[in-house]
Amino acid sequence: MTTWTAGYVADIGYTHGFYRELTPALLDFVMLTRGQRGPDFSGRLAYCELGCGQGLSTNLLAAANPTIEFHATDFNPSQIAGARALAAEAGTPNVHFYDHSFSEFLHEPALPAAFDVVALHGIYSWISPENRAHIVEFLRRRLKPGGVVYISYNTLPGWAAAMPLRRLLTDHAGTRTGPILPRIDEAVAFAESLRTAKAAYFTQNPALAPRFDKLKGLPRSYLAHEYFNRDWTPFYFADVAADLAEAKLTFVGSAALLEGVDAINLNAEQQSILKACADPVRRETLRDYMVNQQFRRDVYVKGALPHTVPSSRAAWTALRFALSTPRTEVPLKVQGSLGEAQLQEEVYSPILDVLAKGPATVQAIFTDPAVKALDWGKLMEAFGILVGSGHVQPCPSGKDDAARLKRTRAFNAAVMRRAEAAEEIQFLASPVTGSGVPADRMAQLFLAAQASGADPVQRAWAVLQAQGQRLVKDGKPLDGAEANLADLRERYDTFVKTRLPVLRQLGIA
Ligand SMILES: C[S@@+](CC[C@H](N)C(=O)[O-])C[C@H]1O[C@@H](n2cnc3c(N)ncnc32)[C@H](O)[C@@H]1O
Repeated sequence: MTTWTAGYVADIGYTHGFYRELTPALLDFVMLTRGQRGPDFSGRLAYCELGCGQGLSTNLLAAANPTIEFHATDFNPSQIAGARALAAEAGTPNVHFYDHSFSEFLHEPALPAAFDVVALHGIYSWISPENRAHIVEFLRRRLKPGGVVYISYNTLPGWAAAMPLRRLLTDHAGTRTGPILPRIDEAVAFAESLRTAKAAYFTQNPALAPRFDKLKGLPRSYLAHEYFNRDWTPFYFADVAADLAEAKLTFVGSAALLEGVDAINLNAEQQSILKACADPVRRETLRDYMVNQQFRRDVYVKGALPHTVPSSRAAWTALRFALSTPRTEVPLKVQGSLGEAQLQEEVYSPILDVLAKGPATVQAIFTDPAVKALDWGKLMEAFGILVGSGHVQPCPSGKDDAARLKRTRAFNAAVMRRAEAAEEIQFLASPVTGSGVPADRMAQLFLAAQASGADPVQRAWAVLQAQGQRLVKDGKPLDGAEANLADLRERYDTFVKTRLPVLRQLGIA
């Protein structure tokens, strides 16, 4: 009988996700947008990830941030073995993985006395109250004063309508024994049969249909971890804030920066209700009602230390940004709770045009005549929105660029070698942003071939052919070498025109 799993799904590995909210430069930027000083991210910091899953985020971030010492734990030993194997293949020295439970991790002697950053993504809602208490205890004991926490969790009221759906699925899976994957398929089919029978739970909750349809299309390994654990608790913001207050933490803001922008999320009436609420925790909880929030990605600090006006201005001026989407593909629109909002061409285009030439500091961007005409407040808001929409990334200070380049090259080479065998990891590390950049298997095969001086199209085809794989076009597999090569050529040409220039600017190609 296995006891270490504490009701957590452990017979199937989690997906290899990378979550950019864990990026040191992004956390630093979130702190700055909220007027808070954080740890000195250009210094030698200690970073900890609790429940690191396959460890991809930590592995990638360690390669891209060589002055930071990363420690990560997850009690699933297969995942930790895999994470260590990737760290060894990439030769990343500043990363340390442990297969400890949260309670065991509290007593690990090899950890630094205290951390500057602790991150936990997709953990807090999926563990028992006892394990949540271990995490709070860890934060109380092992986070430095001034240290930053990133925490994400399922949120109420957004999950309220779907809670019975999750119960339906897990109850059904619980009526069977054996491996989890077939039980998930059966549970999903069973829920579908209730919908077909027009169970009033489905007909009277119209918001369920799109959620259930989306769920059916998600990888089963993801569903296993998202829905099928013994513990699964969505929280009100106020309840998590109260738990974390026990570790002396105060809320800074959401790492999902667009969610903090009132104009795109709240109508005038909602804004005035929130303005009238003096208690910041209650206000944030009410905000979740306004947008029916279902997942929060929050930043907390142990001991808030506000910037002064000059120190904030100095930090902003020195900040470097990079474009991570081809300039022509950056839409001048963003999506908020109120729907789609248009961005002002005269504010955003000049900034994007400067960044299209390469990464630049705010100081350098500000020397452009078109940008100089903008008001400082507007400029700061625009960077928040561009970073929030994921098209622009804040960058770490340039002082360790050579080490970043060396380590990210080695990391990316290890990831790209794996792409020859499977489509497992869909991110590469950027020495410029100190973060991950999405790159699918085909992009990785093209880049690896280019780096070795081979013809990318022929090389990609050789890899696919050796595994008996073919490309799929318009839903149909392509027959024969000629059709596959022609399609690969088209894909490569598009890649060269659109993605490659951005990957070059991000130091990846
Ligand atoms: C939903 S996954 C999220 C993984 C990762 N943070 C990510 O987002 O890709 C939750 C992870 O927490 C780990 N976990 C659950 N309970 C744990 C415990 N008590 N101690 C250590 N790890 C735990 C699981 O093994 C799993 O990998």
